[in-house]
Amino acid sequence: MNIGIIGAGQIGGTLGRKWASVGHIIRFGVRNPGDARYEALRTTGEVREAGQAAALGEVVLLALPGAAAADFVSGHAHALAGKIVIDATNNVRGAEMNVLTMLAEVAPSARPVRAFSTLGWENFADPQIGGQQIDLFFCGDPAVRSTAEQLIAEVGLRPVYIGNLDTAAALDGFTRVWFALVFGQGYGRRTAFKLLSE
Ligand SMILES: NC(=O)c1ccc[n+]([C@@H]2O[C@H](COP(=O)([O-])OP(=O)(O)OC[C@H]3O[C@@H](n4cnc5c(N)ncnc54)[C@H](OP(=O)(O)O)[C@@H]3O)[C@@H](O)[C@H]2O)c1
Repeated sequence: MNIGIIGAGQIGGTLGRKWASVGHIIRFGVRNPGDARYEALRTTGEVREAGQAAALGEVVLLALPGAAAADFVSGHAHALAGKIVIDATNNVRGAEMNVLTMLAEVAPSARPVRAFSTLGWENFADPQIGGQQIDLFFCGDPAVRSTAEQLIAEVGLRPVYIGNLDTAAALDGFTRVWFALVFGQGYGRRTAFKLLSE
């Protein structure tokens, strides 16, 4: 797949490397594509202006700071229309943690997925803890569930679909639990969730 990754920091860089390693075509979208600090990433994918990277992707991963993500979505509706848009952003101080409402307003034909938002990036770089595979809870448009599951599994995580976009607020509760454990209770950033069921 052609994947546009908007924001080439910890989340964008980590997921881009994983997906490139299994054959996806990666384009990172950044503010200053010529910046020397992106040299290492150029072995993983092209580094382009953010709007171009989104326009060329079949899948677009939003991996910007939360407030910047809202600006990006509102300014690039055309580039996101009809695409699978994975929102990994967390706007912890915003009225909403994610940009799904804005995305639905400006690009109603987009196929949104809320994923990679609930755990620290270290758990995506190394998706096992103590020999156990980390579960990644996610939600989104049922029409693109299988593609999202594929992309999550390719990172090495076990995808756990919790429902359509109506479950996004519940999903964001996992993020708040992770923050409480890691920043409030002293658990390390290599903390993750596992679903037990029979
Ligand atoms: N870090 C985590 O463990 C983690 C886990 C789950 C979800 N998230 C969420 O994922 C998102 C990205 O987090 P991150 O840790 O990857 O952040 P990061 O390492 O700080 O990277 C953010 C990226 O966004 C770019 N950026 C910043 N402001 C921008 C703007 N106004 N327009 C365009 N690009 C801009 C930065 O580029 P410049 O270098 O040009 O500033 C950088 O490439 C955040 O919303 C975060 O809450 C993070």
